Amino acid sequence: MGTGPAGTSTRSYSVTQKYDLDARAGCFNVVPGWLHKNNGDSRMNTRVILLGLAAMLTAGTAAVLPAVARADSPADIILIRQAGQDLLAGTFGGLKIALDAKVDVKTLAVRADAMTKWMKVFPLQFPAGSDTGAPNKAAPTIWSDRAGFDKSAASFTEATVKLTELAKAGDTDGFAAQFKATADACGACHKDYRLK
Ligand code: HEC
Repeated sequence: MGTGPAGTSTRSYSVTQKYDLDARAGCFNVVPGWLHKNNGDSRMNTRVILLGLAAMLTAGTAAVLPAVARADSPADIILIRQAGQDLLAGTFGGLKIALDAKVDVKTLAVRADAMTKWMKVFPLQFPAGSDTGAPNKAAPTIWSDRAGFDKSAASFTEATVKLTELAKAGDTDGFAAQFKATADACGACHKDYRLK
């Protein structure tokens, strides 16, 4: 027991109560020390718990936020998307080498599918403000015509989904023709959304 500001009585939680609150806070462990105090009034107890819940919700929101607001610097994001494109180009080029070497196209399905996966998240590597921060060739049209850019990426994944299906079916001729259609989808996006 002690005397708080303006003569109000303050009391520290017992160890058990304190751990109870800590347990409610779960893994966030962010309930500040002052939440561990109250004046013994049950309404005050409720208020403290509600404040605790609010703190937990805030912590929860903070834990979820990186999914929408990335902390990466524009330079990091530019590096991620360029590295992704270089790997995409390597994978795509590898398909041509494999085709020319007449490998069983069924073994290429996993590569074609990897291209689909990457292109699904590629447009997310262009948040507002990532046009500068490191040398890059992203055209301003990416931001002025976002819907068109997203559509261009979707056309590409449509092509690679087909490519994957043809690979799985072991259709070598179909795969070779679809490889060309996929190359066209690379070129179409570069024409409109990549600087020369
Ligand atoms: C939806 C649009 C889009 C598609 C589809 C696309 N690209 Fe790109 N690509 C871009 C943009 C935009 C850049 C510039 C990124 C930057 O500099 O930040 C780029 C950059 C590149 C780069 C250079 C990366 C670097 O290190 O600077 C290569 C290589 C590349 N793309 C290859 C390909 C290949 C190969 C395909 C098809 C298999 C393809 N791209 C499909 C939009 C696309």
